[in-house]
Amino acid sequence: MDDVPNFETVKIERDGGTTFLILNRPEKKNAMSPQMHIDMCAALDWAEDDEATKVVVLTGAGGNFCAGQDLKLFFRATEDDPKARRRSRRAAHEWRWNKLVAFPKATIAMVPGYCFGGGFTPVIACDFAIAAEDATFGLSEVNWGIIPGGLVAWAVTQVMNYRDALYYSVTGEKFSGATAAQMKFVNKAVPNDRLREETMVLARALEAKSPAAVRYTKEAIRTVRGMSKEQALDFLDCKNDALIAADPERGRGKALSQFLDDKSFKPGHGSFERTT
Ligand code: COA
Repeated sequence: MDDVPNFETVKIERDGGTTFLILNRPEKKNAMSPQMHIDMCAALDWAEDDEATKVVVLTGAGGNFCAGQDLKLFFRATEDDPKARRRSRRAAHEWRWNKLVAFPKATIAMVPGYCFGGGFTPVIACDFAIAAEDATFGLSEVNWGIIPGGLVAWAVTQVMNYRDALYYSVTGEKFSGATAAQMKFVNKAVPNDRLREETMVLARALEAKSPAAVRYTKEAIRTVRGMSKEQALDFLDCKNDALIAADPERGRGKALSQFLDDKSFKPGHGSFERTT
């Protein structure tokens, strides 16, 4: 597709309003090199500004999601080069957490095959995650003498319960996509041959929603987690007012009129009729 940028280690594909950002080092099971971190920062910046992109799906090429940080290029090659190490770490953190959690459009991690170590962080940072039932997840750091660093240990505690987080981090035991869905590490697991189809069902549903409502809802859910009840109440009132004032579609007004006056839609059954 010629209207999407080219990157050395990230492939971009469009499917309607959904844009796939694909970690693209299949010969290395999509292990993350410093270049991949730089490319993903740029790819997310591009997707954020791209008008046609309503939803981002993050996945990997060649039947795997990601084998974690590249042990050779991310770790060993920068061992004696503190500046390069710092740059790589900063870029790694920037896209896998900062950019993804603050991304203004819906994001879905679509996980086939292997997902190890540092590959957990972007799965957790995405709004939604759908895995193949036979995907293989593993916090393998302990197996080679390190801890799940680069925020992985913190990130897993955001979505796993304490027992599971400790168990899988300390034992390094692998778990399947089906198990990941049972523990709600991912939203659901589906047969591998239906992974893309099922992901697109969710993506299309998200594409149809008001972009402003999706964005503000994401921001609200993320932010209230660190707040007291009183703070949340005040923040959410202000956030709603800000959404109503800033929404270029004037979605709330349209929806109220379609429900109350035209009686043409019911919010309990789906989204209001969008005209822009
Ligand atoms: N870093 C660097 N290279 C990696 C890698 C990683 N994290 N994961 C895989 N690769 C490379 C392999 O070294 C191999 O390279 P080669 O063809 O030059 O020998 C290539 O990718 C294919 O991987 P291979 O190990 O042959 O495939 P496999 O199917 O037998 O095993 C894994 C796949 C993912 C189980 C295995 O490669 C592995 O354990 N990788 C490390 C996973 C990990 O601990 N990641 C956490 C890092 S924080």
